[in-house]
Amino acid sequence: MKIHVVEDYRQLSLKAATLVAGQVNMKPNAVLGLATGSTPEGMYSELVRLFHAGAVDFSEVVTFNLDEYVGLDSSHPQSYHYYMHHHLFNHVNIPAGNIHIPSGNAADMAAFCREYDQKIAAAGGIDLQILGIGVNGHIGFNEPGESLSVGTHLIELSRETIEANSRFFDSADEVPRQAVTMGMGSIMKARRILLLASGKSKAKAIRETVCGRVTPQVPASFLQLHRRAILIVDREAASLL
Ligand code: PGA
Repeated sequence: MKIHVVEDYRQLSLKAATLVAGQVNMKPNAVLGLATGSTPEGMYSELVRLFHAGAVDFSEVVTFNLDEYVGLDSSHPQSYHYYMHHHLFNHVNIPAGNIHIPSGNAADMAAFCREYDQKIAAAGGIDLQILGIGVNGHIGFNEPGESLSVGTHLIELSRETIEANSRFFDSADEVPRQAVTMGMGSIMKARRILLLASGKSKAKAIRETVCGRVTPQVPASFLQLHRRAILIVDREAASLL
């Protein structure tokens, strides 16, 4: 793992966007694995700025999002479909047909998950996977547990995740209990991984990710086994390293 400690959230966002733009400039038809949550918002807004400045062109880029809540309509403001269009897709030139986000409403979820993995493989795999990290060490919605799944799958959200994400909803009761997430295998197969973490609330998860045992109880700890995993963390998130 390569760890970059930066001063603050703004520096984290700028550095992450520079890395993503560099990937696209190096390989215009790059396959990007994308994350949602509050952490990558600054990176997306900087990518939009770079696009408008003519510094990056997304016209051949293919994207696969990590996860989506089950049961929210794609027009729901807290759905990850809505988030991605709001923060990135409505502002850059990624062709609509190149965008993939897991469906939280598929009639046959098992078939949908299989097809999602097949589409990632057919696109040639992920060149650069962006990740946030949960306070409990989850990546995507791969929650801590006895074991982890390889492929895209349906999961029950943990109590910590429901609590952490309730800040986006009127109350914890409104947070969906289930989600669809890319599995650990799909993430680990990415050629490069970029994990972003900002703020004190992530310090413990970052310490366990970097210094702890590799264990399904801390899904992000598996990144210790990846050859090209990069962490960009701000001072607060790095404060327990
Ligand atoms: P956050 O979420 O960026 O909103 O903190 C990260 C995550 O839960 O993976």
